[in-house]
Amino acid sequence: MSKETLPVESRIIPVKRLEEYWERSIEDPEGFWSEHARALQWFKTWDKVLDASNPPFYKWFVGGKINASYNALDVHIKTWRKNKVAYIWEGEPGDTRVITYYQLYKEVNRIAKILKNMGVKKGDRVTLYLPMIPELPMVMLACARIGAIHSVVFSGFSGESLASRINDSNSKILITADGAYRRGKIIPLKEWADKALKLTPSIESVIVVRRTGSKVNMVENRDYWLHELLAGIEPDTYVEPEPVESTHPLYILYTSGTTGKPKGVEHSTGGYLAWVYWTLKWAFDPREEDVWWCAADIGWVTGHSYIVYSPLMHGLTSIMYEGAPDYPHPDRWWSIIEKYGVTIIYTAPTAIRAFMRYGEEWVKKHDLSSLRILGSVGEPINPEAWNWYYKNVGGERCPIIDTWWQTETGGFMISPSAGVELAPLKPGSATFPLPGIDAEVVNDNGKRVEPGERGYLIIKKPWPGMLQTLWKDPERYVEVYYKKFPGFYYTGDYAMRDSDGYFWLLGRADEVLKVAAHRIGTTELESVLVSYPAVAEAAVAGKADPVKGEVPVAFVVLREGYSPLNSLREELVKYVRNQIGPIATPANIFFVDKLPKTRSGKIMRRLLKSVVSDQPLGDITTLEDEASVEEIKKAYDELKKELE
Ligand code: WTA
Repeated sequence: MSKETLPVESRIIPVKRLEEYWERSIEDPEGFWSEHARALQWFKTWDKVLDASNPPFYKWFVGGKINASYNALDVHIKTWRKNKVAYIWEGEPGDTRVITYYQLYKEVNRIAKILKNMGVKKGDRVTLYLPMIPELPMVMLACARIGAIHSVVFSGFSGESLASRINDSNSKILITADGAYRRGKIIPLKEWADKALKLTPSIESVIVVRRTGSKVNMVENRDYWLHELLAGIEPDTYVEPEPVESTHPLYILYTSGTTGKPKGVEHSTGGYLAWVYWTLKWAFDPREEDVWWCAADIGWVTGHSYIVYSPLMHGLTSIMYEGAPDYPHPDRWWSIIEKYGVTIIYTAPTAIRAFMRYGEEWVKKHDLSSLRILGSVGEPINPEAWNWYYKNVGGERCPIIDTWWQTETGGFMISPSAGVELAPLKPGSATFPLPGIDAEVVNDNGKRVEPGERGYLIIKKPWPGMLQTLWKDPERYVEVYYKKFPGFYYTGDYAMRDSDGYFWLLGRADEVLKVAAHRIGTTELESVLVSYPAVAEAAVAGKADPVKGEVPVAFVVLREGYSPLNSLREELVKYVRNQIGPIATPANIFFVDKLPKTRSGKIMRRLLKSVVSDQPLGDITTLEDEASVEEIKKAYDELKKELE
């Protein structure tokens, strides 16, 4: 495929200002970005905005020196924002902490000192396995301050998942907590971490944050309480922020792909910071007086970019909430909005659908008039959820900013732009690409599809927030993102443009599931299932779910001598939870005699999806390559019969 097959004249953006701004960003990216990157504080300006000499290993702001912690904190404490609130944190049990920029700055400096004392140097990896407590952003910023690369592992992942991520990144230090609150219960985080620590030889020291007061096992000369370490650090400790190269990795974040092994997405410092700074500004038009609430977990990219780095760079006041959305009552979130006067809330459709189920009464109990903008992320938002959110939460007053993006993209990519000019919204459409993003919807041959037709979403030009590579695996980086459509970034998503040019995101085109907006690879689940002694073969498909969007359903072929008992099914479900984490829990496991496969032995996944979703096969000519229509029909009927 050549680049000529992808024309660019389909740019219909119905708002002039946005269109002009966007055009400039595409036509003169270097000029555009050299102006925009100046919003950040650089220790040394770059020599070249974009080095595209070795695609797809693009380098942004080459020669520039910068520090993320400096841009998030030091820049403010020199101004009146010094005493502005950075985070209003609310714990699940109802305890609160209010942290100003100055206080955050002081804590980050002290933690940076602790890390330095432990021998952490620029480029070393530090793994964080923490609940949603203020220490999480503090440690991230402390790492960034000294040029260490953080790898945050979502606290809902199991010890096994933690271990594989620690080993892949070869981290020296693990930072965790004694426990985490979830729905009134205490999750024994340190105990889970202890499981991992049996398998992770690279870890030299473990720092434990005291959150729940649970009794934990501390290993001498390896495990240290954070509060005890802090007691030995002067309150006024200052750690010089390390000026790192713009391309120095700020962090690694593991995400699911189409193989069993999660990918270590590596983000740069300079390009990433510029991207998260500007995308928040363009999409949400944040103002000094805003109370911003990104209700994600920092364990995912949404929290990295829009709870930590971007809002802090903007000097915003953010809400950080520790617990479950509906604990102890379904109006917990609405009470938080009312209590703190939240002006922008940013969440996922799965949460909105869960609230819809509880009913409007819970929302109506609260005065939500402080809200001015609503946001959505993580999965396609269905029009019913959009309308409910718009009416009941936003009082028909607040635009919904539906942001399409990925762990790999660093920040928002396709989204309405309250900060530039808002195009008329259509419920369920993320509208148009943001400045700097040249997106297109193409068929298998890389040709642009007609309006109304489904195709693959690709990004045609590099952008500053893009991943730099996959950690220690540059081949896989090229293979996953640049092989299907050479020269262009492949998103793995289906999309469609309508006759007005609006983009509609239609879900994953690959073997990745979105379960309650969490990203899980079907192959990841399959490899866990086949590691169980009774299992010979396994295949996982996503089943449509009214609240979670999708849930994983597994098909399992047992080894000789094992019977398809209910107890075995339960054991397998438990096994998957223990190996990956509760988010991967299969909604159902079917024992089958054989899996439907093509002649070359590939599992017919889309067929499985149709079967579990109780949908007709649809257009089977393109359903599974290499298999005949008859074969597919036969396999479908057989499987349906077996499940009845
Ligand atoms: C999906 C989350 C439709 C998509 C930031 C993408 C969306 C994957 C949207 C990335 C949206 C995210 N509309 N689909 N607004 N936002 N997605 O890496 O399938 O956890 O590829 O990043 O979520 O998930 P990830």
